[in-house]
Amino acid sequence: MTSSPSAENLTALKTSALLTASQLNKTVQVGEQKLSIIKDVDIHVNAGEFVVIMGKSGSGKSTLLGLLAALDYPDSGSVKLADQTLSSLDEDALAVIRQREMGFVFQSFHLLPTLTVAENIAFPLDIARRPNKARVDELIEAVDLGHRRNSLPNQLSGGEQQRTAVARALVSQPKIVFADEPTGNLDEQNANQVMQLLLDLRQQVGSALVVVTHDPALAEMADRVITMHDGRIVH
Ligand SMILES: Nc1ncnc2c1ncn2[C@@H]1O[C@H](COP(=O)(O)OP(=O)(O)OP(=O)(O)O)[C@@H](O)[C@H]1O
Ligand SMILES: [Mg+2]
Repeated sequence: MTSSPSAENLTALKTSALLTASQLNKTVQVGEQKLSIIKDVDIHVNAGEFVVIMGKSGSGKSTLLGLLAALDYPDSGSVKLADQTLSSLDEDALAVIRQREMGFVFQSFHLLPTLTVAENIAFPLDIARRPNKARVDELIEAVDLGHRRNSLPNQLSGGEQQRTAVARALVSQPKIVFADEPTGNLDEQNANQVMQLLLDLRQQVGSALVVVTHDPALAEMADRVITMHDGRIVH
């Protein structure tokens, strides 16, 4: 890895705020009714920190993650990443920030179906016009997919697809990685392997990690656990 903070450096990093969301609100229109699904949420994530978001189904975890990752706009409130206020940027500017500063892992993998494993992992670097074959090769080996580098996603197992997604999320050494139930579609053995890879790779890069999960074992490994209930953070 090119930038590998030591354990001490990672600890020092964790004292500086990276992502700050203030008074986030989100409503959706359901028929005639406006439904409030995120209510007055304040949240911060420090550089290099591993934060888990838990809560019952429907409590607003995915919606909140989407707002933090600027995949969706809040009705009110702001999200700041380092010194940039994301909620005031247009779609094109946000796309650039997502490419350069963020990584994503979703429950249903979201790989590009016509690209090989190697091409999927290389994709964030390629669209940012910063190709780096050595970095891609390093990550393919790190997630143990050297023998699958030319396979298409539909030729892979679920665990292999998610390992590809983990490598893709970390390839551009993002400041922060967002994961929404990254192990939700995997059996226990694959879930453990994928999560360990995600934790190891993000430790090497020094990225912060925000994971929505129902898995208490994962919550135990986090620096901090946030619990949501009915659109609010309850603790
Ligand atoms: N576009 C939408 N239109 C209407 N309701 C929505 C929309 N998006 C989310 N909701 C509602 O908002 C609430 C929060 O949804 P969200 O997907 O964030 O929950 P979650 O905590 O991620 O749940 P799960 O654990 O099941 O994934 C739910 O009641 C959901 O039905
Ligand atoms: Mg969800």
